[in-house]
Amino acid sequence: MTSLAERWGIHPEHFWLRGERPAEPVRFDEETGTWTVYGHEEACAVLGDPKTFSSAHVNEIFPVQVDESMRAGNLLDMDPPDHRKLRNLVSKAFSAKVVADLEPRITALTHELLDAAVDGDRLELVDGLAYPLPVIVIAELLGLPVGDRDLFRGWVDVMFSENDRVSMNDDKETLETEFAAQVEGMAPMLDYLRAHAVERRKNPREDLISGLVRAEVDGERLNDDEVVNFSTVLLVAGHVTTTMLLGNTALCLDAHPDQRARLRADPSAVPVAIDESLRFLTPFSALARATTREVELGGKRIPPDRMVMVWLSAANRDPRRFADADRFDATRDPNPHLGFGRGIHFCVGAPLARLEGRIAVDILLDRFPDLRVDPERAPTFMPSPMMTGVRSLPMRVA
Ligand code: HEM
Repeated sequence: MTSLAERWGIHPEHFWLRGERPAEPVRFDEETGTWTVYGHEEACAVLGDPKTFSSAHVNEIFPVQVDESMRAGNLLDMDPPDHRKLRNLVSKAFSAKVVADLEPRITALTHELLDAAVDGDRLELVDGLAYPLPVIVIAELLGLPVGDRDLFRGWVDVMFSENDRVSMNDDKETLETEFAAQVEGMAPMLDYLRAHAVERRKNPREDLISGLVRAEVDGERLNDDEVVNFSTVLLVAGHVTTTMLLGNTALCLDAHPDQRARLRADPSAVPVAIDESLRFLTPFSALARATTREVELGGKRIPPDRMVMVWLSAANRDPRRFADADRFDATRDPNPHLGFGRGIHFCVGAPLARLEGRIAVDILLDRFPDLRVDPERAPTFMPSPMMTGVRSLPMRVA
């Protein structure tokens, strides 16, 4: 049977999406000079040991150095104890209670967006719903004008291009050129967020950026770089991945009409289906870590100061962990997938992403009983090998 990945041509090099198994759970990849982790158990071992597999050290061993002003306040690049202090600041902003209170707003927004997006019997799911919904929600939380959302999209495209591949073998000049292009592409976003941070210092409001400029860590306020980089992570992580989750779930349900019909009949099963979508087509497909010492993993000895790529999307298809791993099973429960990561960096926004996913899928199933991928226009996918997810998804509602 043709896999969903083969049918739509999703990342041909991600062989695990096509039912092939990695020969080993951990291997050294000559082409990129990185250690590659495919196994679920091994991925958990890496993500559960930040002392040995550091996030901060990734930048230190990379041939091109990222300026400190661009790193400060980026949760994803931090190790304990700094990580914990900063993470505590946002954990409260995304607590179960705060997120649950957003339900009426997300529901109203989903209906509003769909009302505007349906054109006859056509619905472009990404432009119409999967992109604007999470971006409006995170922009409103941060306190950014929702009307600026097309700007965000342009900036994010620069960040996640097809060149977004981690390799230690590229020559330094190529890396420097690529990196300079990235920095240049991101500059307008950083300037934009800096202007908002400066404004909130003068006129605080009830939003997350004001919360960050007011916040104190060890008795000290965050500086502007920290506020800007922190907000960047929230803005970018807060929508790109959720856009993919919504689109991927629609694609999975389209490929499995029987499972879709069951969900329509019993919407209480939607949350379980959302988690299966995260396992089956994992939006954030790979995470980078760097070794701080020699370590044994999956029967291999990895030296210190090596880049380790944890392929969450491959670990999520590990047959040692998941029965019938290549089958999309919307009733799979428990589902110990790694779609939101694991350990201290576990996704802060997971409750919000799950809520947005549940509401959007509920409403789509309810409003459009005949929703299907447009037979005349194929979906397209994010070009970055680090991301697995639809970028455009033309559908028919009748
Ligand atoms: C971290 C995936 C939605 C904010 C992560 C990580 C993953 C992930 C895999 C771990 C990174 C690592 O270990 O290096 C996803 C997916 C999402 C999603 C698949 C949607 C389906 C969101 C949303 C927000 C968010 C909606 C914010 C509103 C963050 C932040 C971190 C993070 C701030 C860093 C946490 C830390 O380093 O402690 N996410 N995410 N994410 N995510 Fe998400």
